[in-house]
Amino acid sequence: MSAEQKTDRQYKGSIVVVEDEENMCKILTKILNLDGYHVTTFVNPIKALEYITTYAPDIVITDIKMPQLSGMEVLKRVKQANQNIGVIVITAYATIEGAIDAMKAGAFHYVTKPFKTAELLMTLQKAIEHKRLLDENVIFTEHVRREFAGINIIAESPAMQNIKALIEKIAPTESAVLIQGESGTGKELVAKAIHNASHRRLKRFVPINCPTIPETLMESELFGHEKGAFTGATQTKHGLIELAHGGTLFLDEIGDLPLHLQAKLLRVLQEREIQRVGGLKQIPVDIRLLAATNHDLEKDIENGTFRSDLFYRLNVINIIIPPLREHWEDVEPLVEYFLNKFSQQMHKPKMHILPEAMNLLKRYPWPGNVRELENILERLNVLVEKQSIGAEDIPADLQPLTKELPMAPPRIREPVPSGEYKSARQQFETEYITGLLRQAEGNITEAARISGMSRRNLYEKIEKLGLDLEQFKKNTK
Ligand SMILES: Nc1ncnc2c1ncn2[C@@H]1O[C@H](COP(=O)(O)OP(=O)(O)OP(=O)(O)O)[C@@H](O)[C@H]1O
Ligand SMILES: [Mg+2]
Repeated sequence: MSAEQKTDRQYKGSIVVVEDEENMCKILTKILNLDGYHVTTFVNPIKALEYITTYAPDIVITDIKMPQLSGMEVLKRVKQANQNIGVIVITAYATIEGAIDAMKAGAFHYVTKPFKTAELLMTLQKAIEHKRLLDENVIFTEHVRREFAGINIIAESPAMQNIKALIEKIAPTESAVLIQGESGTGKELVAKAIHNASHRRLKRFVPINCPTIPETLMESELFGHEKGAFTGATQTKHGLIELAHGGTLFLDEIGDLPLHLQAKLLRVLQEREIQRVGGLKQIPVDIRLLAATNHDLEKDIENGTFRSDLFYRLNVINIIIPPLREHWEDVEPLVEYFLNKFSQQMHKPKMHILPEAMNLLKRYPWPGNVRELENILERLNVLVEKQSIGAEDIPADLQPLTKELPMAPPRIREPVPSGEYKSARQQFETEYITGLLRQAEGNITEAARISGMSRRNLYEKIEKLGLDLEQFKKNTK
């Protein structure tokens, strides 16, 4: 083959040859160069490994029998360094068993000495194609990981940490999950996190917000319809359940699903098939169902508006997300998270929040939970022109409520306790905590929030002072 032909050839990949016979190295270099590979040869396997771990070639061709290090050892170390590098072993007929062991240890293939050039090139071609697929897969998985790891659940409080741990545990399973929580607590976020941490992550996550779909359209939205099924059905339509095939279906506010559709949904979960409206065919569907509600479904069952069999089917795993006022330790990290998020979204420097403003946010009871906090921070990012957010910037509708929650319970001023420090402190603690519990009506979480103490610390003090929580609860007073 002429030199021009050689340079015209398309570059096929990089090969490292590890072979203790110099002559063999030369022959291989020539053959492989001619076929479009970049070749680097080593008679010393140790040197070869140094090169391979630094430069990560596509393929390593190694002899099995070498004085310094066996081809098997080269294979193992290459695979340890980079799983994707293809290894082809060259062996004499006499050591064919060694070649089979090499295959078991992860070699792509083997060629026997003396080999035919065409056979070697064919094996190499396949090895290169395989390597490309592996590389693409790595790039794809990395892409997916980056894309979906984007689900960020801020969770510094023990309650939210438990939820995160639960998500990780249940995501790989196929179980249905019922997610409960007040509005804006992060139910959809948790559902997405479960999907993204599951093997279904490459398929769709299909959220359906039951209350927003008119009841008359709900059935065909969920199950699809055949052409001509009803007036206006001019074309066959795939339902959302079919769209979620292979992935996850998230039914938000499942309590709002009409009873007859609850029955149909239950059938889908049991039979793993659907029938489009007006259709006769059973279409197999493979979905994982996640559902959310802020209703008390057990009450709905008592009232006859929710099917108990569907409830038990859904409630295999139950995640209850607490309202934000019950994990206010997360307010500060959430504020920081949203300040970062909005600065990135709005392409402006991150705003700072001054301590007094943060205190106001920490004391507000957040009836709209994390969504309300997020909205307020978005508003502040748009409206406040300074770099830092002060107490005066906090919207007035948040302030009156916070002002109703004084740090210390109102009480008639007692003279400063006198005598021994220890007993004075105890007297103060008894008074303070009694007042606090009265104000919080015996609710530890609320008392902890008002006082800024941890629940645990507060609980220990209550125990130590021998106070009875029941006496502070409103209905038992
Ligand atoms: N722990 C959290 N960390 C970060 N962001 C959160 C967290 N919890 C909620 N959010 C954010 O708050 C907003 C509301 O969350 P989401 O929509 O999941 O709540 P929801 O419970 O489904 O609300 P609704 O009941 O109103 O449908 C979203 O933008 C979500 O990303
Ligand atoms: Mg939601």
